[in-house]
Amino acid sequence: MHNYKRLLKLLSPYKKALLLGALFLVIASLTNLAVPLYIKKLVDVVMVQKDMALMNSLTLSIAGLFLIQMVFTTAHNYLFDLTEKRVITDFRIKLFRHLHTLSLSFFVKRRTGEIVSRMTNDITTIENIVTDLPATLLQQSIRLFGGIIIITYMNWKLTGLILVLAPVLVVFARTFGRRLKKLSTEIQDKLAVSTTILEENISCIQVVKSFVREKLENQRFSEALEDSYQSAKKRVIISSFFGPSIGFIAFSTSLILLWYGGREVILGAISPGELIAFILYATIIAGPMGSFARLYARVQEGIGASKRVFEILDMKGEVRDLPDAEAMPRIEGKVEVDGVHFHYRADQEVIQGIDFTVEPGQTVALVGPSGAGKSTLVQLLHRFYDPIAGQIRIDGIPLESVQLASYWRQIGIVPQETILFGGSILENIEYAKPGVTKEELIQAAKAANAHNFIMETPESYETVVGEKGIRLSAGQRQRIAIARAILKDPRILILDEATSALDNESELLIQEALERLMVGRTSFIIAHRLSTIHNVDRIIVMDRGQIVESGNHAQLMQKEGLYHKLYTLKSLQMVEDNEVSSDLPRP
Ligand SMILES: Nc1ncnc2c1ncn2[C@@H]1O[C@H](COP(=O)(O)OP(=O)(O)OP(=O)(O)O)[C@@H](O)[C@H]1O
Ligand SMILES: [Mg+2]
Repeated sequence: MHNYKRLLKLLSPYKKALLLGALFLVIASLTNLAVPLYIKKLVDVVMVQKDMALMNSLTLSIAGLFLIQMVFTTAHNYLFDLTEKRVITDFRIKLFRHLHTLSLSFFVKRRTGEIVSRMTNDITTIENIVTDLPATLLQQSIRLFGGIIIITYMNWKLTGLILVLAPVLVVFARTFGRRLKKLSTEIQDKLAVSTTILEENISCIQVVKSFVREKLENQRFSEALEDSYQSAKKRVIISSFFGPSIGFIAFSTSLILLWYGGREVILGAISPGELIAFILYATIIAGPMGSFARLYARVQEGIGASKRVFEILDMKGEVRDLPDAEAMPRIEGKVEVDGVHFHYRADQEVIQGIDFTVEPGQTVALVGPSGAGKSTLVQLLHRFYDPIAGQIRIDGIPLESVQLASYWRQIGIVPQETILFGGSILENIEYAKPGVTKEELIQAAKAANAHNFIMETPESYETVVGEKGIRLSAGQRQRIAIARAILKDPRILILDEATSALDNESELLIQEALERLMVGRTSFIIAHRLSTIHNVDRIIVMDRGQIVESGNHAQLMQKEGLYHKLYTLKSLQMVEDNEVSSDLPRP
């Protein structure tokens, strides 16, 4: 209920429109209740008094009532529905904004599908109850209680009969309705399983083909579908029985009503018009009884959905501005990492106490085996995460004491894997600096060695890259990410395997551009190809979340430690590669 109250709070800015809508709704419902009374008169006038003039004027009055009902129903529908759309649109926007305040950890821990489902399906469920529920409740209460009061006043015995018969109908309909609904959900869930298989098969089509697993996949898919067919079969059996039998019960109850009412008419207890009015009221009353039960189920669904949505809305970003956070001044580039520890999960410490200092403008390479924690360390430097213990200082200022945005504007990262937005190449590069001139943008692309390949794409800079940049090769995506970083012109630059997807030649070309880019700013490079980091100021060698060695290339080679080992292994590999390729041309 607490969640529902929060939902209703969303409506408070639109109180005026809603109150007006409620007024219109009351008028429409009362008009609706008045109609049978006039019909009663009409029938009596026609059948008993046989008065033509009175009949004409009554018919006109009823037409007038219908007109009033139409106008006010239109008005309240419009007001309620429009408010609902507005509220939900605002709510979706609010939620999206909120997502951006959450930290990377939120997105990493959850599956994309789960977040998307809360943002779409759950909000749609909420949309269905937010104004509709109070409106229906009001409307049906007026009909139910108004109807009962009027007919009790007319004839309490017939009213008693209606109040006994109507619930029978409602209970029957509800019981089957619920069973049908349960089966529908079951069918949906089972269909969802087959949809997942379908999606998997499409995205992993290469794997399926290469391992010749079509047969297994076909079997998996048909099993899932058969499963949903079995539920569908049950549903068909129930639903084909349900419609006709509810019709039968409805007609039987009307017949009982008609018989008993007819008897009262013959005995002279009520007029024929009153009998007709009773039957009309019976249908007016039966409606709310059914819809109250339905409403209850919808409220349950809506509350479940709002719980999931509010859960996200109540989350706070783990990495966020402290209340007294100040803007980061222009960064000179001194970086101090002081006793930093970090873990993603409490049982696995990924960074285990790291200390180092980098002077402004220096270039530092981070090397080490896969899983050593290099990417994690630079993500800490970027403040995507906060350390569990220890501190990172930039120009002596602790990172946690500055405003995130002011820091992020001055730091650039080219990640290990580049995912692009679905738009054009231009849009993707421009992302770094909205409103940049085309010349400046092309210059950045040239520096990133991306201009040439971009000009070869069908529409050059306007070429659409497809979902996540799928239509470009990994190396091309990387060069776009580099162009973007060049355009951002950050004070601290992080390259996480920024050239790993490039061939040796492109890498050499970009290396130059990157070296130019690194002048005058503090840079961190993670590289597996150790040949690319020969002349950096310092190499930090990491293993299992700790620094095991540090120094320049010559010092580290002399030490004959981990770096020496990694380097000789790589060199050996390269020599082998060369031998293989020089073998190739031979017959
Ligand atoms: N989001 C995450 N949640 C949990 N564990 C993670 C997460 N990201 C990385 N890890 C773990 O942290 C450790 C360090 O990972 P990291 O990506 O920093 O290694 P790396 O040195 O960059 O490796 P590589 O050279 O392969 O890129 C690994 O053991 C990895 O399994
Ligand atoms: Mg990595």
